[in-house]
Amino acid sequence: MNSLQCVLQAQRSLRWGPLAAVSWLLLRTCRAHCSLPSPASPSPERQENGVQKDFSSRLATGPTFQHFLRSASAPQEKPSSSEAEDPPPYLRKEELLGRQRKVYLETYGCQMNVNDTDIAWSILQKSGYLRTGNLQEADVILLVTCSIREKAEQTIWNRLHQLKTLKTKRLHSRAPLRIGILGCMAERLKEEIFNREKMVDLLAGPDAYRDLPRLLAVAESGQQAANVLLSLDETYADVLPVQMSPSATSAFVSIMRGCDNMCSYCIVPFTRGRERSRPVASILEEVRKLSDQGLKEVTLLGQNVNSFRDNSEVQFNNAVSTNLSRGFTTNYKTKQGGLRFSHLLDQVSQVDPEMRIRFTSPHPKDFPDEVLQLIQERDNICKQIHLPAQSGSSRVLEAMRRGYSREAYVELVHHLRESIPGVCLSSDFIAGFCGETEEDHQHTVSLLREVQYNTGFLFAYSMRQKTRAYHRLKDDVPEEVKLRRLEELITVFREEASKVNKISVGCTQLVLVEGLSKRSVTDLCGRNDGNLKVIFPDTEMEDGINPGLKVRAQPGDYVLVKITSASSQTLKGHALCRTTLKDSLAYC
Ligand code: 5AD
Ligand code: SF4
Repeated sequence: MNSLQCVLQAQRSLRWGPLAAVSWLLLRTCRAHCSLPSPASPSPERQENGVQKDFSSRLATGPTFQHFLRSASAPQEKPSSSEAEDPPPYLRKEELLGRQRKVYLETYGCQMNVNDTDIAWSILQKSGYLRTGNLQEADVILLVTCSIREKAEQTIWNRLHQLKTLKTKRLHSRAPLRIGILGCMAERLKEEIFNREKMVDLLAGPDAYRDLPRLLAVAESGQQAANVLLSLDETYADVLPVQMSPSATSAFVSIMRGCDNMCSYCIVPFTRGRERSRPVASILEEVRKLSDQGLKEVTLLGQNVNSFRDNSEVQFNNAVSTNLSRGFTTNYKTKQGGLRFSHLLDQVSQVDPEMRIRFTSPHPKDFPDEVLQLIQERDNICKQIHLPAQSGSSRVLEAMRRGYSREAYVELVHHLRESIPGVCLSSDFIAGFCGETEEDHQHTVSLLREVQYNTGFLFAYSMRQKTRAYHRLKDDVPEEVKLRRLEELITVFREEASKVNKISVGCTQLVLVEGLSKRSVTDLCGRNDGNLKVIFPDTEMEDGINPGLKVRAQPGDYVLVKITSASSQTLKGHALCRTTLKDSLAYC
């Protein structure tokens, strides 16, 4: 680590509290000659050189002792980007500002990345950047990336190839296009990205989005800039994510980040760092705001939502402890105290009885009876649980270090169904994990038949560096066998889902309208309590809210729909009337 890197790291540690021990921060000179237009300077190249020289001299001067003292005495609270933090010594305050430059954000991967995109945008917007949906007019392109499987990363490399052409073709009369990699891939590959794709200007790991204005300022001067520090406490609690579509009926609210489970196949603990929860108070504040905006559905988001544990205040350490699900263990030392998921769910569900509450993704180990009882009792908590099994073979589950056997998992499914009658279940499965035999695979097939999930997310195993499986196990299932097993799982899942979904035919279900169906402008599309898509004709219907009147349903309306047909993924029906969540209960 050179002196500049030390300085930057020390600065951050002082101002932002504890940081993960293993971290990486890089700032280096870009060899490429880029140009910056300016009315004062007719030659973009000369100006770039000027900027670089100016920048280099400030860089050489470095921070003063006073600068450290200032940092040390600053409050431990994270600075919000709007409060224009003191710039580092090698940048001027105005260089941290976007000055109306246009940012194009592209999201890959899971819902966490969608939420991270909103957080990154919220930070950039406060710094004076503008958002564009037009790639051609962008000054900055940021890709929010995923590393969970090899294929996800390959998609990004391909995209970078296309963007390279866009960057090199950019007219010299325009400012150079800056390209950034955000999220898990930046965290996993770090400098390797710069080495492979010289046109990438900046890297920001999942815990470094507050640093984006600085990284962009450095990139603007022609340097490559990176911050892939992982944090022990960053939850972006004070950054209100800016939703992309203001007419949305539902929103995701991040409640925790990172993962401590260390399943042997998974890269997430390495890219997103240690598990940490956002304070309950700040979550409730965000949910209240969303309710005030008229949103009708909130999904609590995190890698292990139901492992939630708010330890932000000392007195929370005396909170009543909750149990693991029966037959489940953890890969980490038992944690104590803190406000748990049942407390949060209770509070969130009371904010607005007309607002549906969902959560994803939970881990099966953290379903104590308090949580199940709450889901059963509260009308606005959806009776839908994602219960990632990953495999139906106890032998494979052990190799995956999931902390449960097939038997414990099946017992939990029975317990859930007894506690929450009619609950819809979904799951994740991996086909072809290290050492998976044909017999193990058949155990997964039989689990799919036994549980009969409503929804499934099925993947072929993809070996990831750094994971325990990478170090200790052999990726010995041939690719074609993985794909064949995956196909078989998909077929079985579809057969079973069709069977369970057909039970709904003839029933009346409450649907939250999202908008027009993508397939037909004469149909509306919404979701039932189990999160299944429901399609029905966009016709006039009785208005249960204003008796005697007729209405056409709008996004955000609750509509009672009589189900007339079902497939493995969709229900179809016709609307009976517009209603409210509370009034709809009379029909069930
Ligand atoms: N290969 C294939 N699938 C994986 N998942 C996580 N890691 C891998 C991997 N290395 C799947 C798991 C997880 C979901 C989000 O992605 O099923 O639940
Ligand atoms: Fe990955 Fe397991 Fe954590 Fe899920 S629980 S993010 S699969 S390590």
